[in-house]
Amino acid sequence: MAQTTPNATRGGFSTSFGILAATLGSAVGLGNIWKVPYLTGANGGAGFLLIYLLATLLIGLPVMMAEISLGRSVRANPIKVLRTLSPGRQPWWLVGLSGMLAAFLIMSFYSEVVAWVFAYILKAVRGTIMSSDPAVTQADFAQLVADPLQSLLWQWLVLAAVASVLIMGVAQGIEAITKRLMPLLFILLLILGAVGLTLDGAQQAMQFLFWPDFSKITATVVLTAMGLAFFKLSIGMGTMMTYGSYFTANQNIPQTAVRVMLADLGVSMLAGVAIFPAVFTFGFAPSAGPSLVFITLPAVFSQIPFGHGLMVVFFVLTAVAAMGAMLSLMEVPTVILQERFQMRRSRAVLLATLLVALPGAGSALSHSILAHIHVAGFNLFDLPDFVSSNVLLPTGGIIIALFTGWVWGRDKLQAELSNHGQLRNAKLTTVVFVLLRYVTPLLIALVMLRGLRVF
Ligand code: TRP
Repeated sequence: MAQTTPNATRGGFSTSFGILAATLGSAVGLGNIWKVPYLTGANGGAGFLLIYLLATLLIGLPVMMAEISLGRSVRANPIKVLRTLSPGRQPWWLVGLSGMLAAFLIMSFYSEVVAWVFAYILKAVRGTIMSSDPAVTQADFAQLVADPLQSLLWQWLVLAAVASVLIMGVAQGIEAITKRLMPLLFILLLILGAVGLTLDGAQQAMQFLFWPDFSKITATVVLTAMGLAFFKLSIGMGTMMTYGSYFTANQNIPQTAVRVMLADLGVSMLAGVAIFPAVFTFGFAPSAGPSLVFITLPAVFSQIPFGHGLMVVFFVLTAVAAMGAMLSLMEVPTVILQERFQMRRSRAVLLATLLVALPGAGSALSHSILAHIHVAGFNLFDLPDFVSSNVLLPTGGIIIALFTGWVWGRDKLQAELSNHGQLRNAKLTTVVFVLLRYVTPLLIALVMLRGLRVF
């Protein structure tokens, strides 16, 4: 039977603020500072952001609420949640397996970007990258990614750091650190944004970010924006289901989801305002791709007092934010291996880390010795990114929405979203239900099929 309080052996979050911090800690990560800016730049600016916003509201929020509700109602790993709630032997739990696969694929390129962040902490300390000359900062980045040994070693360091935190199970520790440091990151981004606005290119940047040009919008751009909505909110693969299983019985799920979404959006917008004025002022290409933050921010830091020290702080805080996200990603395969295959936590973590390191090496070496390898037009860095965000997460989203809307059903969803009638939010939860049952799955399917050129 469904339990309403976290059981002693599984543990869980204890305070309302802790829940918000942990959930936000999963959502906020490299996505805000690295992915949103570079995808916005590569896909034409404001039009892309607008579609991303729509996808977040119509798809992201309802799926997030569904995942958390499902997780809390059973309090188990995603596979067990769906097994428990499915009638007969219907294979809805397969979404847990695809979630595991998605976790490995996302981690494989994500850990490499964090590897660059680690390397940039060192570069910032040494003070070798303070320049507003695109040629200099670009060459610096290119040199790092073209070095196979450095790329691999930094990545292994990142994976080892994540694994040790997971094994020690110091969720409390990392939660406490994240809680304290995240506000700092926010403040630093505010400062950087304010500096950005004083640059000559500020007006052009604002226009680029906030004035949509719909001529740039293609089916692929729409698919990318939707994939980003999934990636940003950490949904479609069981992360939020797992976190939901740690929620307290009286946590307001819809409110938490909306707050996480808004805060996450705020951080992304700030990052955009910090980065794009420099792009237009110093002549960087907005479409630079994954290297965008790494080549433009040194230029911003070179323009401000204490820029050197602040750059070190910035990359350290970014690494901390990325850590929270990576822990939430790794928690899914870890808890599945633990509970499904009765593995000890340390074994589960080691196995999951090894399973990341394999495809991870492909991503790490994709700009050097494996640069010649392309699959369906993607290199080994972009491939796991594309497959996870644009195929696996949306597919997981469809399955979760259909399951909630057609199998689990309205009453159980509303019971969970209203804390069994304690919250008076019937109108809101009806909207969420209708979205999940009809709108969300159809919309995801259409965008995916069209974006993947199936029709
Ligand atoms: N949301 C995180 C970011 O933006 C990444 C992330 C963490 C994630 N957990 C996830 C993405 C689960 C998809 C699924 O950086």
